[in-house]
Amino acid sequence: MSERTFLMVKPDGVQRRLIGKIIQRIEEKGLKIVALKMIRIQRELAERHYAEHREKPFFEGLIDYITSGPVVVMVVEGKNSILVVRQMVGKTNPVEAGSGTIRGDFGLDIGRNIVHASDSLDSAIREIDLFFKQEEILDYSLVDEIWVYE
Ligand code: RTP
Ligand code: MG
Repeated sequence: MSERTFLMVKPDGVQRRLIGKIIQRIEEKGLKIVALKMIRIQRELAERHYAEHREKPFFEGLIDYITSGPVVVMVVEGKNSILVVRQMVGKTNPVEAGSGTIRGDFGLDIGRNIVHASDSLDSAIREIDLFFKQEEILDYSLVDEIWVYE
């Protein structure tokens, strides 16, 4: 099975009507979306998702931000998808994120950086499990796969 990663369009990305552009980039890269939904994250889920940052000074602001409005969450599948999607997202601070990355092209502030993506295999597995039930993740083929992979 191809590698899976977790990607979220954060509340600012939704409010700024960037859902379509972000999904378009994922599709055009050749990656496959195998689960997708819009949700409002409750505080408890937000705190579990960002548990690694619990002691950081920005934690409360981060939880307020991520729970402030609807988000779009998805599971993205493809060769080396964890690394590839992180590279497409760009550095945490949009000021440092390269041009051509989502944060580099659409953001200006570290606290409004538009998307989240898993940073390792362990976090991908953990985050997919936090946000999706097994039956929400679909196993299917795309007709162009022989043209995306050798
Ligand atoms: P994410 O988890 O959201 O994909 O972002 P990331 O891996 O690039 O960065 P991470 O270190 O995990 O930080 C999580 C989110 O916390 C906010 N943050 N604010 N004010 C600050 O110094 C600061 N540092 C991080 C950002 O929204 C970041 O995406
Ligand atoms: Mg992170």
